[in-house]
Amino acid sequence: MTGFRLVGGAASPRVPAGESGNVSRLVQDRVATCRHPSSYRHRTVSSCRRRRSNGLNRPIAALRQTWQHPQVPDESLTDPAIIRAKGYFEEFAAVYDESAHDSGWLLNGRLVEMLTGVGPVGNALDLACGTGATLSELERALPGAALVGVDIAEAMVIRAAARVPAARFVLADMRAYVDQTDERFDVVTVIGGFEFTPDLPGVLRGLRRLVRPSGHLVLTYEPILDGWDPQSKRVETNLGSNGLELTTFRWHPGEVAAALDGWSTVSSRLLAAYRRDGLPTVYGWLHARRPHTEIDA
Ligand SMILES: C[S@@+](CC[C@H](N)C(=O)[O-])C[C@H]1O[C@@H](n2cnc3c(N)ncnc32)[C@H](O)[C@@H]1O
Repeated sequence: MTGFRLVGGAASPRVPAGESGNVSRLVQDRVATCRHPSSYRHRTVSSCRRRRSNGLNRPIAALRQTWQHPQVPDESLTDPAIIRAKGYFEEFAAVYDESAHDSGWLLNGRLVEMLTGVGPVGNALDLACGTGATLSELERALPGAALVGVDIAEAMVIRAAARVPAARFVLADMRAYVDQTDERFDVVTVIGGFEFTPDLPGVLRGLRRLVRPSGHLVLTYEPILDGWDPQSKRVETNLGSNGLELTTFRWHPGEVAAALDGWSTVSSRLLAAYRRDGLPTVYGWLHARRPHTEIDA
């Protein structure tokens, strides 16, 4: 695998706990309309800053110095929506966990139950790993499995690596990673990441190779809900409370299923993922399994 920036892993230095300080690049206090759980509605940045107290409050620049990794240019970053998502989450990382908690981000809480009984798992990949909430559930659900996290935003990955130090991390656009990696996995998860992806079916087609025969893929996506204004548009760009734009892509459940044609469905459902304007935001949840033998492997 080439072209990616590798960070973390068991040998990586840990972020010391218990330190506090200023978070660099924090935006001005403001309350703005936002349309995603990673935006903290009706709260100011200073109130978030007051409530943070762990070692991740150190300036990003200082955290970055604790990592040893090769510098690889972001050659895959050409799509404007992906560039926006990266910028958004780089800026938002410092308050992401608190925001997710406040908006009732529920999806990771279902993973342990969903993965019960998947059998012995040697390794698992989490795409769009963010600050590591999904990986820490995988660590509980799949004891002993080698974990890999991939995310496009370094500020998110830095936090994930402090939260799940045994995991290995790759800083990359998920599409670039999926298309180029030689790695194969028993379990792949993508929780809360596909709504920022302009070509979800394309990433899924690539993912078909990464999941080993009989392996599992657990993913979420934001469905198009015809007639329900908050989720009726296929593509929507909104302003987050950090003053940056974020583009959301939605899909029909049939489009997602078609990209995994030939795989078996372990479970497929629509569920409330978080609160937006006091209303539940609906997500599609799909747990699919690759057949034991498959011609296009
Ligand atoms: C809403 S967070 C979800 C994180 C985590 N799975 C969770 O449930 O808390 C979305 C993450 O997707 C990442 N992301 C967005 N677009 C991406 C892309 N094209 N490639 C890789 N990661 C991406 C963001 O940087 C962010 O960390």
